[in-house]
Amino acid sequence: MGLRSSGLGQYADEVSYSQRGQIPPFHVMETMNAAAAHEAAGHRVLHLEVGQPSTAAPSSALVAARNALAGDVLGYTGALGLPALRQRISGWYAERYGLQLDPARIAVTTGASGSCVLAFLALWDPGQRVGVIEPGYPCYRNDLRAFGVDPVPVPVDASTGFRPTVEHLEAAGPLDGLILASPSNPTGVVLDQEHLDPILQWARDQSIHVVVDEIYHGLTYGADPPSALALDPSVVVINSFSKFFSMTGWRLGWIVAPESLMPAIERLAQNLTIAAPTLSQIAGVAAFDGVAECEANIDRYRRNRDSMVESLALAGLSEIAPAEGAFYIWVAITSTGFTASELCTRWLTELDLAVTPGIDFDPVRGEGFVRLSFAGSEADIDEAGRRIVNWMNQQ
Ligand SMILES: Cc1ncc(COP(=O)(O)O)c(C=O)c1O
Repeated sequence: MGLRSSGLGQYADEVSYSQRGQIPPFHVMETMNAAAAHEAAGHRVLHLEVGQPSTAAPSSALVAARNALAGDVLGYTGALGLPALRQRISGWYAERYGLQLDPARIAVTTGASGSCVLAFLALWDPGQRVGVIEPGYPCYRNDLRAFGVDPVPVPVDASTGFRPTVEHLEAAGPLDGLILASPSNPTGVVLDQEHLDPILQWARDQSIHVVVDEIYHGLTYGADPPSALALDPSVVVINSFSKFFSMTGWRLGWIVAPESLMPAIERLAQNLTIAAPTLSQIAGVAAFDGVAECEANIDRYRRNRDSMVESLALAGLSEIAPAEGAFYIWVAITSTGFTASELCTRWLTELDLAVTPGIDFDPVRGEGFVRLSFAGSEADIDEAGRRIVNWMNQQ
Protein backbone atom coordinates (compact mmCIF):
# COMPACT_ATOMS: atom_id res chain seq x y z
CA MET A 1 0.00 0.00 0.00
CA GLY A 2 1.70 3.18 -1.11
CA LEU A 3 1.61 6.58 0.50
CA ARG A 4 0.18 9.21 -1.72
CA SER A 5 -0.30 12.93 -1.76
CA SER A 6 -3.67 14.03 -0.45
CA GLY A 7 -3.49 17.80 -0.71
CA LEU A 8 -3.45 17.97 3.08
CA GLY A 9 -0.27 19.99 3.46
CA GLN A 10 2.09 18.73 6.18
CA TYR A 11 0.12 15.47 6.57
CA ALA A 12 0.31 14.64 2.87
CA ASP A 13 3.03 12.06 3.18
CA GLU A 14 1.39 10.33 6.11
CA VAL A 15 -1.95 9.67 4.45
CA SER A 16 -2.60 6.39 2.75
CA TYR A 17 -5.82 4.75 1.76
CA SER A 18 -6.89 1.16 1.21
CA GLN A 19 -6.18 -0.85 -1.90
CA ARG A 20 -9.83 -1.95 -1.85
CA GLY A 21 -10.90 1.53 -2.88
CA GLN A 22 -8.57 1.50 -5.88
CA ILE A 23 -11.16 -0.04 -8.18
CA PRO A 24 -11.91 1.28 -11.66
CA PRO A 25 -14.71 3.81 -12.04
CA PHE A 26 -18.13 2.84 -13.39
CA HIS A 27 -17.44 4.51 -16.74
CA VAL A 28 -21.15 4.78 -17.60
CA MET A 29 -21.49 7.30 -14.80
CA GLU A 30 -18.53 9.22 -16.22
CA THR A 31 -20.12 9.17 -19.67
CA MET A 32 -23.28 10.56 -18.06
CA ASN A 33 -21.19 13.33 -16.49
CA ALA A 34 -19.61 14.20 -19.87
CA ALA A 35 -23.07 14.29 -21.47
CA ALA A 36 -24.36 16.51 -18.64
CA ALA A 37 -21.40 18.90 -19.10
CA HIS A 38 -22.08 19.06 -22.86
CA GLU A 39 -25.72 19.79 -22.09
CA ALA A 40 -24.78 22.49 -19.58
CA ALA A 41 -22.78 24.11 -22.41
CA GLY A 42 -26.07 24.59 -24.28
CA HIS A 43 -26.47 21.42 -26.39
CA ARG A 44 -29.58 19.23 -26.38
CA VAL A 45 -28.13 15.77 -25.93
CA LEU A 46 -29.85 12.55 -26.93
CA HIS A 47 -29.16 10.23 -24.00
CA LEU A 48 -28.49 6.72 -25.21
CA GLU A 49 -25.87 6.19 -22.53
CA VAL A 50 -28.31 5.91 -19.67
CA GLY A 51 -29.42 2.48 -18.51
CA GLN A 52 -32.65 3.60 -17.02
CA PRO A 53 -36.28 3.91 -18.07
CA SER A 54 -37.50 7.36 -19.08
CA THR A 55 -40.86 6.64 -17.42
CA ALA A 56 -41.99 7.27 -13.83
CA ALA A 57 -42.84 4.65 -11.21
CA PRO A 58 -46.30 3.08 -11.61
CA SER A 59 -49.03 5.47 -10.41
CA SER A 60 -50.07 3.00 -7.69
CA ALA A 61 -46.57 3.31 -6.21
CA LEU A 62 -46.68 7.11 -6.35
CA VAL A 63 -50.06 7.23 -4.58
CA ALA A 64 -48.87 4.87 -1.85
CA ALA A 65 -45.71 6.94 -1.33
CA ARG A 66 -47.69 10.19 -1.10
CA ASN A 67 -50.08 8.66 1.43
CA ALA A 68 -47.22 7.32 3.49
CA LEU A 69 -45.50 10.71 3.49
CA ALA A 70 -48.68 12.30 4.77
CA GLY A 71 -49.34 9.89 7.58
CA ASP A 72 -46.48 7.56 8.35
CA VAL A 73 -43.58 7.92 10.78
CA LEU A 74 -41.30 6.15 8.28
CA GLY A 75 -39.00 4.55 10.80
CA TYR A 76 -36.67 1.65 10.06
CA THR A 77 -38.09 -1.66 8.93
CA GLY A 78 -36.56 -5.02 9.81
CA ALA A 79 -33.27 -5.67 7.97
CA LEU A 80 -34.89 -8.13 5.55
CA GLY A 81 -37.69 -5.71 4.69
CA LEU A 82 -41.38 -5.10 5.28
CA PRO A 83 -43.22 -8.41 5.71
CA ALA A 84 -45.91 -7.13 3.30
CA LEU A 85 -43.30 -6.51 0.61
CA ARG A 86 -41.57 -9.88 1.05
CA GLN A 87 -45.00 -11.51 0.82
CA ARG A 88 -45.83 -9.51 -2.32
CA ILE A 89 -42.55 -10.43 -4.00
CA SER A 90 -43.24 -14.08 -3.19
CA GLY A 91 -46.69 -13.63 -4.81
CA TRP A 92 -44.97 -12.19 -7.90
CA TYR A 93 -42.98 -15.42 -8.34
CA ALA A 94 -46.20 -17.43 -8.03
CA GLU A 95 -48.07 -15.29 -10.60
CA ARG A 96 -45.29 -14.88 -13.09
CA TYR A 97 -43.31 -18.08 -12.83
CA GLY A 98 -45.65 -20.50 -11.02
CA LEU A 99 -43.07 -20.77 -8.22
CA GLN A 100 -43.96 -21.15 -4.55
CA LEU A 101 -41.34 -19.25 -2.53
CA ASP A 102 -41.36 -18.89 1.22
CA PRO A 103 -41.13 -15.12 1.91
CA ALA A 104 -38.51 -16.06 4.51
CA ARG A 105 -36.16 -16.66 1.54
CA ILE A 106 -36.58 -13.07 0.32
CA ALA A 107 -34.48 -10.11 1.48
CA VAL A 108 -35.42 -6.58 0.45
CA THR A 109 -32.36 -4.51 -0.50
CA THR A 110 -31.21 -1.08 -1.68
CA GLY A 111 -31.53 -1.99 -5.35
CA ALA A 112 -29.79 -4.82 -7.16
CA SER A 113 -26.59 -2.93 -6.28
CA GLY A 114 -27.35 -3.54 -2.61
CA SER A 115 -28.25 -7.14 -3.47
CA CYS A 116 -24.81 -7.63 -5.03
CA VAL A 117 -23.05 -6.33 -1.92
CA LEU A 118 -25.01 -8.56 0.46
CA ALA A 119 -24.97 -11.66 -1.75
CA PHE A 120 -21.27 -11.45 -2.64
CA LEU A 121 -20.23 -10.89 0.98
CA ALA A 122 -22.48 -13.70 2.19
CA LEU A 123 -21.18 -16.16 -0.42
CA TRP A 124 -17.46 -15.59 -0.94
CA ASP A 125 -14.30 -14.97 1.06
CA PRO A 126 -11.21 -12.95 0.14
CA GLY A 127 -8.95 -14.81 -2.25
CA GLN A 128 -11.74 -16.95 -3.75
CA ARG A 129 -12.20 -16.96 -7.51
CA VAL A 130 -15.54 -15.99 -9.00
CA GLY A 131 -16.31 -16.16 -12.72
CA VAL A 132 -17.75 -13.04 -14.34
CA ILE A 133 -18.96 -13.05 -17.92
CA GLU A 134 -17.34 -10.49 -20.24
CA PRO A 135 -18.89 -8.43 -21.68
CA GLY A 136 -20.90 -8.02 -18.49
CA TYR A 137 -22.05 -5.55 -15.86
CA PRO A 138 -18.84 -3.96 -14.50
CA CYS A 139 -19.94 -3.59 -10.89
CA TYR A 140 -19.83 -7.37 -10.33
CA ARG A 141 -16.11 -7.34 -11.08
CA ASN A 142 -15.42 -4.10 -9.24
CA ASP A 143 -17.46 -5.06 -6.14
CA LEU A 144 -15.71 -8.42 -5.92
CA ARG A 145 -12.35 -6.71 -6.15
CA ALA A 146 -13.27 -4.27 -3.38
CA PHE A 147 -14.17 -7.28 -1.22
CA GLY A 148 -10.83 -8.97 -1.92
CA VAL A 149 -12.47 -11.69 -4.05
CA ASP A 150 -10.80 -12.40 -7.41
CA PRO A 151 -13.07 -11.80 -10.40
CA VAL A 152 -12.13 -14.30 -13.12
CA PRO A 153 -13.05 -13.11 -16.63
CA VAL A 154 -15.10 -15.54 -18.70
CA PRO A 155 -14.98 -14.00 -22.19
CA VAL A 156 -17.85 -14.78 -24.56
CA ASP A 157 -18.35 -13.62 -28.12
CA ALA A 158 -20.55 -13.83 -31.20
CA SER A 159 -19.57 -17.48 -31.80
CA THR A 160 -22.00 -18.57 -29.04
CA GLY A 161 -24.38 -15.63 -29.39
CA PHE A 162 -22.57 -13.99 -26.43
CA ARG A 163 -23.86 -16.81 -24.19
CA PRO A 164 -21.57 -18.56 -21.70
CA THR A 165 -21.24 -22.32 -22.02
CA VAL A 166 -19.70 -25.01 -19.82
CA GLU A 167 -16.67 -24.95 -22.15
CA HIS A 168 -16.16 -21.26 -21.40
CA LEU A 169 -16.33 -21.95 -17.67
CA GLU A 170 -13.92 -24.85 -17.83
CA ALA A 171 -11.46 -22.67 -19.70
CA ALA A 172 -11.53 -20.18 -16.80
CA GLY A 173 -9.70 -22.55 -14.43
CA PRO A 174 -10.90 -23.46 -10.94
CA LEU A 175 -13.79 -21.31 -9.70
CA ASP A 176 -15.44 -20.88 -6.29
CA GLY A 177 -18.43 -19.08 -7.70
CA LEU A 178 -20.10 -17.70 -10.79
CA ILE A 179 -22.20 -14.65 -11.61
CA LEU A 180 -24.64 -14.82 -14.52
CA ALA A 181 -27.11 -12.26 -15.83
CA SER A 182 -30.16 -12.84 -17.98
CA PRO A 183 -31.07 -10.70 -19.84
CA SER A 184 -27.55 -9.36 -19.90
CA ASN A 185 -26.35 -5.81 -19.61
CA PRO A 186 -24.76 -4.83 -22.05
CA THR A 187 -25.67 -7.47 -24.66
CA GLY A 188 -29.41 -7.97 -24.06
CA VAL A 189 -28.84 -11.72 -24.46
CA VAL A 190 -31.29 -13.99 -22.65
CA LEU A 191 -30.36 -17.34 -21.09
CA ASP A 192 -33.18 -19.82 -21.61
CA GLN A 193 -33.57 -23.14 -19.84
CA GLU A 194 -31.48 -24.89 -22.52
CA HIS A 195 -28.59 -22.49 -21.80
CA LEU A 196 -28.94 -22.37 -18.01
CA ASP A 197 -29.49 -26.07 -17.29
CA PRO A 198 -26.03 -27.33 -18.31
CA ILE A 199 -24.27 -24.44 -16.53
CA LEU A 200 -26.23 -24.93 -13.31
CA GLN A 201 -25.59 -28.68 -13.46
CA TRP A 202 -21.87 -28.00 -13.95
CA ALA A 203 -21.88 -25.61 -10.98
CA ARG A 204 -23.59 -28.23 -8.79
CA ASP A 205 -20.98 -30.78 -9.85
CA GLN A 206 -18.25 -28.33 -8.81
CA SER A 207 -20.14 -27.38 -5.60
CA ILE A 208 -19.85 -23.68 -6.40
CA HIS A 209 -22.34 -20.94 -5.64
CA VAL A 210 -24.11 -19.20 -8.50
CA VAL A 211 -25.68 -15.74 -8.46
CA VAL A 212 -28.10 -14.96 -11.27
CA ASP A 213 -28.94 -11.30 -11.86
CA GLU A 214 -32.51 -11.15 -13.20
CA ILE A 215 -32.89 -7.36 -12.99
CA TYR A 216 -34.05 -7.18 -16.63
CA HIS A 217 -36.66 -9.93 -16.29
CA GLY A 218 -39.97 -8.66 -17.62
CA LEU A 219 -38.13 -6.69 -20.34
CA THR A 220 -37.85 -9.35 -23.04
CA TYR A 221 -39.03 -9.35 -26.62
CA GLY A 222 -39.65 -13.05 -27.19
CA ALA A 223 -40.95 -15.79 -24.88
CA ASP A 224 -40.38 -15.02 -21.19
CA PRO A 225 -37.29 -16.84 -19.90
CA PRO A 226 -37.61 -18.94 -16.73
CA SER A 227 -36.25 -17.66 -13.46
CA ALA A 228 -33.12 -19.62 -12.56
CA LEU A 229 -34.96 -20.40 -9.31
CA ALA A 230 -37.26 -22.70 -11.27
CA LEU A 231 -34.28 -24.73 -12.46
CA ASP A 232 -32.20 -24.84 -9.31
CA PRO A 233 -33.44 -23.70 -5.89
CA SER A 234 -29.86 -23.39 -4.62
CA VAL A 235 -29.02 -20.39 -6.83
CA VAL A 236 -29.08 -16.88 -5.40
CA VAL A 237 -31.23 -14.61 -7.56
CA ILE A 238 -31.02 -10.84 -7.42
CA ASN A 239 -33.60 -8.45 -8.80
CA SER A 240 -34.78 -4.88 -8.47
CA PHE A 241 -37.58 -2.38 -8.92
CA SER A 242 -35.28 -0.24 -11.09
CA LYS A 243 -35.95 -1.50 -14.60
CA PHE A 244 -39.30 -3.26 -15.19
CA PHE A 245 -40.97 -1.08 -12.54
CA SER A 246 -39.17 2.13 -13.66
CA MET A 247 -38.02 2.91 -10.11
CA THR A 248 -34.25 3.46 -10.39
CA GLY A 249 -34.08 6.37 -7.95
CA TRP A 250 -36.10 4.59 -5.27
CA ARG A 251 -33.15 2.27 -4.59
CA LEU A 252 -35.17 -0.86 -3.99
CA GLY A 253 -34.41 -4.45 -4.90
CA TRP A 254 -34.39 -7.95 -3.53
CA ILE A 255 -32.52 -11.24 -3.15
CA VAL A 256 -33.96 -14.73 -3.17
CA ALA A 257 -31.56 -17.12 -1.45
CA PRO A 258 -31.58 -20.60 0.06
CA GLU A 259 -32.94 -20.56 3.60
CA SER A 260 -29.53 -21.51 4.98
CA LEU A 261 -27.96 -18.29 3.60
CA MET A 262 -30.61 -15.95 5.03
CA PRO A 263 -29.11 -15.49 8.52
CA ALA A 264 -25.83 -14.27 6.99
CA ILE A 265 -27.68 -11.93 4.62
CA GLU A 266 -29.75 -10.61 7.53
CA ARG A 267 -26.70 -9.94 9.72
CA LEU A 268 -24.88 -8.21 6.86
CA ALA A 269 -27.95 -6.09 6.05
CA GLN A 270 -28.40 -5.12 9.72
CA ASN A 271 -24.83 -3.93 9.92
CA LEU A 272 -24.34 -2.41 6.47
CA THR A 273 -27.61 -0.57 5.82
CA ILE A 274 -30.03 -1.41 8.70
CA ALA A 275 -32.76 -1.68 6.03
CA ALA A 276 -33.84 -0.48 2.59
CA PRO A 277 -35.65 2.91 2.57
CA THR A 278 -39.08 2.51 4.18
CA LEU A 279 -40.86 4.93 1.83
CA SER A 280 -39.58 2.98 -1.17
CA GLN A 281 -40.64 -0.30 0.38
CA ILE A 282 -44.19 0.98 0.87
CA ALA A 283 -44.22 2.16 -2.76
CA GLY A 284 -42.78 -1.21 -3.80
CA VAL A 285 -45.73 -3.10 -2.33
CA ALA A 286 -48.12 -0.93 -4.36
CA ALA A 287 -45.97 -1.13 -7.52
CA PHE A 288 -47.26 -4.66 -8.07
CA ASP A 289 -50.73 -3.14 -8.63
CA GLY A 290 -49.25 -1.17 -11.54
CA VAL A 291 -47.90 -4.09 -13.57
CA ALA A 292 -50.15 -3.23 -16.55
CA GLU A 293 -48.53 0.22 -16.76
CA CYS A 294 -45.08 -1.39 -16.72
CA GLU A 295 -46.04 -3.91 -19.40
CA ALA A 296 -47.15 -1.03 -21.62
CA ASN A 297 -43.54 0.25 -21.80
CA ILE A 298 -42.39 -2.97 -23.44
CA ASP A 299 -44.05 -2.20 -26.78
CA ARG A 300 -42.14 1.07 -26.91
CA TYR A 301 -38.87 -0.63 -26.06
CA ARG A 302 -39.47 -3.26 -28.77
CA ARG A 303 -40.26 -0.58 -31.34
CA ASN A 304 -37.16 1.40 -30.32
CA ARG A 305 -34.99 -1.69 -30.54
CA ASP A 306 -36.23 -2.45 -34.07
CA SER A 307 -35.75 1.18 -35.13
CA MET A 308 -32.18 1.33 -33.80
CA VAL A 309 -31.18 -2.06 -35.25
CA GLU A 310 -32.47 -0.85 -38.63
CA SER A 311 -30.57 2.45 -38.40
CA LEU A 312 -27.36 0.68 -37.39
CA ALA A 313 -27.69 -1.66 -40.37
CA LEU A 314 -28.15 1.37 -42.68
CA ALA A 315 -25.03 2.84 -41.09
CA GLY A 316 -23.10 -0.36 -41.88
CA LEU A 317 -22.97 -1.41 -38.21
CA SER A 318 -24.74 -4.74 -38.23
CA GLU A 319 -22.52 -6.84 -35.96
CA ILE A 320 -24.76 -6.71 -32.92
CA ALA A 321 -25.43 -9.15 -30.09
CA PRO A 322 -28.91 -10.72 -30.14
CA ALA A 323 -30.94 -7.91 -28.48
CA GLU A 324 -33.50 -10.21 -26.88
CA GLY A 325 -34.07 -8.39 -23.62
CA ALA A 326 -33.14 -5.38 -21.44
CA PHE A 327 -32.89 -2.13 -23.40
CA TYR A 328 -29.39 -2.23 -24.85
CA ILE A 329 -27.68 -2.86 -28.14
CA TRP A 330 -24.07 -4.07 -28.07
CA VAL A 331 -22.59 -3.24 -31.42
CA ALA A 332 -19.11 -3.81 -32.89
CA ILE A 333 -17.58 -0.55 -34.14
CA THR A 334 -14.09 -1.57 -35.29
CA SER A 335 -15.17 -0.99 -38.93
CA THR A 336 -15.38 2.76 -38.17
CA GLY A 337 -11.61 2.90 -37.67
CA PHE A 338 -12.11 4.54 -34.25
CA THR A 339 -11.83 3.14 -30.77
CA ALA A 340 -15.05 3.15 -28.77
CA SER A 341 -13.73 5.95 -26.54
CA GLU A 342 -12.90 8.08 -29.60
CA LEU A 343 -16.22 7.34 -31.26
CA CYS A 344 -18.20 8.19 -28.12
CA THR A 345 -16.37 11.51 -27.76
CA ARG A 346 -16.94 12.35 -31.43
CA TRP A 347 -20.61 11.45 -31.35
CA LEU A 348 -21.10 13.53 -28.21
CA THR A 349 -19.36 16.61 -29.60
CA GLU A 350 -20.42 16.30 -33.26
CA LEU A 351 -23.89 14.72 -32.97
CA ASP A 352 -24.97 15.71 -29.45
CA LEU A 353 -25.45 11.99 -28.94
CA ALA A 354 -24.29 10.16 -25.79
CA VAL A 355 -23.51 6.43 -25.95
CA THR A 356 -21.27 4.30 -23.76
CA PRO A 357 -17.87 2.88 -24.76
CA GLY A 358 -17.57 -0.87 -24.28
CA ILE A 359 -14.56 -0.68 -21.92
CA ASP A 360 -16.78 -0.71 -18.85
CA PHE A 361 -18.25 -4.04 -19.79
CA ASP A 362 -15.21 -5.69 -21.31
CA PRO A 363 -11.85 -4.24 -20.25
CA VAL A 364 -10.00 -6.33 -22.86
CA ARG A 365 -12.10 -6.10 -26.04
CA GLY A 366 -14.40 -3.21 -25.10
CA GLU A 367 -12.73 -0.57 -27.29
CA GLY A 368 -14.25 -2.46 -30.21
CA PHE A 369 -17.85 -2.04 -29.04
CA VAL A 370 -20.32 0.58 -27.87
CA ARG A 371 -23.50 0.11 -25.90
CA LEU A 372 -26.60 2.03 -26.93
CA SER A 373 -29.59 2.20 -24.61
CA PHE A 374 -32.98 2.37 -26.32
CA ALA A 375 -34.92 3.09 -23.12
CA GLY A 376 -35.64 6.68 -24.25
CA SER A 377 -38.55 8.15 -26.18
CA GLU A 378 -39.41 6.94 -29.68
CA ALA A 379 -38.60 10.38 -31.11
CA ASP A 380 -35.14 10.40 -29.50
CA ILE A 381 -34.25 6.88 -30.65
CA ASP A 382 -35.36 7.57 -34.23
CA GLU A 383 -33.44 10.86 -34.28
CA ALA A 384 -30.33 9.20 -32.82
CA GLY A 385 -30.52 6.57 -35.56
CA ARG A 386 -30.79 9.26 -38.26
CA ARG A 387 -27.75 11.11 -36.88
CA ILE A 388 -25.66 7.93 -36.79
CA VAL A 389 -26.59 7.03 -40.39
CA ASN A 390 -25.77 10.54 -41.66
CA TRP A 391 -22.50 10.67 -39.76
CA MET A 392 -21.39 7.25 -40.99
CA ASN A 393 -22.27 8.18 -44.58
CA GLN A 394 -20.03 11.23 -44.33
CA GLN A 395 -16.96 9.28 -43.14
C1 LIG B 1 -27.22 -5.94 -14.76
C2 LIG B 1 -27.45 -4.94 -13.68
N1 LIG B 1 -27.43 -5.36 -12.41
C3 LIG B 1 -27.61 -4.49 -11.41
C4 LIG B 1 -27.83 -3.15 -11.65
C5 LIG B 1 -28.03 -2.21 -10.48
O1 LIG B 1 -29.36 -1.78 -10.46
P1 LIG B 1 -30.07 -1.10 -9.23
O2 LIG B 1 -29.11 -0.99 -8.13
O3 LIG B 1 -30.58 0.21 -9.71
O4 LIG B 1 -31.21 -2.02 -8.88
C6 LIG B 1 -27.86 -2.68 -12.95
C7 LIG B 1 -28.05 -1.24 -13.25
O5 LIG B 1 -28.01 -0.77 -14.36
C8 LIG B 1 -27.66 -3.61 -14.00
O6 LIG B 1 -27.69 -3.23 -15.29
